[in-house]
Amino acid sequence: MNSENFKKMAAQKAVEKLHGKKIVGIGTGSTVKYLIDEIGADKKLFQDTLFVPTSNDSEKKLIQYGLKVTHEFAGLIDITVDGCDEIDPEGRLIKGGGGALTREKMVAYNSRNVVIIADSTKSVNKLGNFGVPVEILPFLWKNTVERLNEFYRTEINGGLEAKTDNGNLVAIVRTGDMDDPEKVFNLIKNVPGVVEVGIFLNLTNSSIICGMDGCSVKDYPLNKR
Ligand code: A5P
Repeated sequence: MNSENFKKMAAQKAVEKLHGKKIVGIGTGSTVKYLIDEIGADKKLFQDTLFVPTSNDSEKKLIQYGLKVTHEFAGLIDITVDGCDEIDPEGRLIKGGGGALTREKMVAYNSRNVVIIADSTKSVNKLGNFGVPVEILPFLWKNTVERLNEFYRTEINGGLEAKTDNGNLVAIVRTGDMDDPEKVFNLIKNVPGVVEVGIFLNLTNSSIICGMDGCSVKDYPLNKR
């Protein structure tokens, strides 16, 4: 068994939570691709479901399965399932390795229930080793990177051609392990030119993490909307 098997196991467990839901947020990444395959395999169950995708990639895959997608609706999303780059014991996350962090954060924030699926390599005691992906505007991007560099070593991820679905750039801020992710979030978010920061606080309601010992399901009651 390898991490791909574990991602798939987490996706298989998560799909049950989507049955009967009217509006469902769909994250981005390789773990979520397995989830979309699970949904597509049972698509009769999702005829009345509207999906809110967090990236063009996820949207394309949903449409290929003949599922309905929307970018506009009133109210809250019933449930969102997404992956992560790191998850700590409080359910705090680093996200954005796939460049979709702004839409992912918007979809999570507008959801009643956020479920994170991952293989056990994503589970950490302290967030930060992955680096913090940060979406920044192309306008004055060198200045934005210089200002972030005053706090932590920062580089553009994937070069200037690698634009997000919003037409922006992604910088990786090398914070190392963080003692206070909220403080780091505020520091980065305060720099003009930063669109969104890939530190997700108080947004996870539950996680399904699968590894060699099976899958562990954890709830984070303090994050209830
Ligand atoms: C996308 O921008 C990210 O936030 C992903 O959710 C994250 O990188 C997890 O991706 P994988 O499932 O491919 O590891």
